[in-house]
Amino acid sequence: MTATDTTAPTTSRPVVPPPNAVGESALPELRAMWWETGMRARADAGLRAVFAEIPRLVGTALGIAWRADRTRTLVVAAATVGAGVMAAFGLLATQRVLLELFSAGPTPDRVLAALPALSLLAGSAAVRAGLGIVTGYAQNGLSPRVDREVERRLFETTTAVQLQAFDEDAFADDMERASRGSSSVISLVQGAMNLLAGLAGLLAVTVAVVVIHPLLLVALLVATVPGAWAALKAGHQRYQTYMAGSVRRRRLWILHRLMAERPSAAELRTYGLRSFLLDLYDKVMGVETRIQLDLARRTTTTTAIGSVVGGAATGAVYLLLGVLLLNGHIPLAAAATCVVAVQAAQRSLAAATFQIDRIYDEGQHFRDYDQFLDRATAHMPPAAGSVEAGPLAQLSVDEVTLTYPDRDTPAVDKVSLVIRQGQTVAFVGENGSGKTTLAALVAGLRAPAAGTITWNGHPYAELREQSMQARIAVVTQDYHRWPFSVATNIALGDIDTDAEPDRIHAAAVKAVAHDVIAELPHGYETLLDKTFADGQDLSGGQWQRITAARGFFRDADLLIMDEPSSALDPRAEHALFQAIRDRQGRQTTILITHRLANVRHADRIYVLDRGRLVEAGSHDELMGSGGRYAELFTLQAAGYQSASV
Ligand SMILES: Nc1ncnc2c1ncn2[C@@H]1O[C@H](COP(=O)(O)OP(=O)(O)OP(=O)(O)O)[C@@H](O)[C@H]1O
Ligand SMILES: [Mg+2]
Repeated sequence: MTATDTTAPTTSRPVVPPPNAVGESALPELRAMWWETGMRARADAGLRAVFAEIPRLVGTALGIAWRADRTRTLVVAAATVGAGVMAAFGLLATQRVLLELFSAGPTPDRVLAALPALSLLAGSAAVRAGLGIVTGYAQNGLSPRVDREVERRLFETTTAVQLQAFDEDAFADDMERASRGSSSVISLVQGAMNLLAGLAGLLAVTVAVVVIHPLLLVALLVATVPGAWAALKAGHQRYQTYMAGSVRRRRLWILHRLMAERPSAAELRTYGLRSFLLDLYDKVMGVETRIQLDLARRTTTTTAIGSVVGGAATGAVYLLLGVLLLNGHIPLAAAATCVVAVQAAQRSLAAATFQIDRIYDEGQHFRDYDQFLDRATAHMPPAAGSVEAGPLAQLSVDEVTLTYPDRDTPAVDKVSLVIRQGQTVAFVGENGSGKTTLAALVAGLRAPAAGTITWNGHPYAELREQSMQARIAVVTQDYHRWPFSVATNIALGDIDTDAEPDRIHAAAVKAVAHDVIAELPHGYETLLDKTFADGQDLSGGQWQRITAARGFFRDADLLIMDEPSSALDPRAEHALFQAIRDRQGRQTTILITHRLANVRHADRIYVLDRGRLVEAGSHDELMGSGGRYAELFTLQAAGYQSASV
């Protein structure tokens, strides 16, 4: 069931929220996510499904380890098998020692007779310990390599998917679980190796026990299965809870940031949001605590049942051993060895079941990671063409439409326009009219749902990857404050070229950023992030100058500037638009601004309204036609005029 099922039809949706809705809508109740259904179904599949999956998961883990580092994987495998063989040797040697010690004859003779077996026992223990050290060493070397391989693949994907993927709610959830999955890989690999080591130990004990008396093997299984079942069951319950809590965890993380971090600190205080946020926290945590307590109760019950049954079964094993001994079915030495073997088997099996639990648990997270990578392929850009973009001569937008997910109306609706080399064009219109979206389409950041955009007559899809992007620079409205130095912040505008200081300086001058930078403690080398030692922060307008410089840094055929001056002071604004005007006739610029005085000089002004292109023309033409542009311009101009009277 989705959230929309429970709400009224669109037509009757209240426009103004009901009076008490603020607290709820700030962090709304949990919505059932599409992926939970599948996860729950799998979690309900039971322990048989767990066992069915283990071989595949172990295979996956070994595959990852093999790809990451063949030598170390081989070393771990060989050492594990070797340790198992040594364990079997050790047990058989133990029996030999006991046989000699319990035989008839004077004590010194018995000890002497036991010496060869004793040295074999000591030798096998030493080799086994040595192999354990080798395994640990190889595994430690393997971990960073495995981590790198898996994490890098995740980042390769998250940086490659199309921008629209981030508009989908499910994508963010998927990604959170995928990053958890990427960190679970190393546990999966180690778990798989430890499981194999545990199984090798178990096999060794089994061989030894079968040699002594086959019936003891059955008893051994009875003694160990209940504990194994309990451990698996508890792991399963933990996993179910993790799945159910994904949305809530994200919300807690959001609250954590809102209450404990710098960006929201000022508004939190000015609006007195402290108790509002703490109440939200209590609400979310209340649910979380209830769920955790419920989980703790269930896992404790499961583990307790497992321990009681396991303890009783171990008692039964010792009883059976006693009966066999009394009836003379097995000699004393064999019985004593069997006690040692039972303990060794329990240790090995406990380790193995713990590993099964861990592998399954981590395996599920890894599956999230795997599935995320699978699903992300749907968001990958389509295969690029082979046409070289070439210097821009003409850019045509033809009947282009784009609707955001979960929106009823298109953000850009059948827009057509042509931009020629050297022109400065402006997109104007009220908030939400589609300017930023249209700019994103032109920049190739988003693909239109209908219509085509062509670069010199070639649809974007036919262009060689990056060949068009390299000719476009975009200064976005919600620009990012990169946590790097000023120089790097500017050089990011064209990261594939050499960031010569002269070029950085020239770009900064165009964007009226140079004077600001010169006053910073370390000039162009000042680190722009307060979270680092020696880091600095800038004012909103200063940041905007740096981002404009980033746009100018690339000598782009097409420069798109979305609200580049919203925070600038009048002098800086004037200088910035002067720099933009300098491009006119040489290079192409798309300008988006609400300060209409700045678009007077544009070759062509496109007016958008609710996604549609409603007017187009030069300033004089549009003023003459007395349409929407003239209305907005006159309104703004009146503000200045009335102030001057
Ligand atoms: N990522 C998004 N997901 C869903 N809807 C979006 C998204 N971005 C924008 N919209 C919606 O699309 C419409 C057009 O938005 P757009 O950002 O293009 O407007 P704009 O003209 O740039 O406005 P502004 O002047 O405020 O910058 C708006 O109704 C907006 O709410
Ligand atoms: Mg915008």
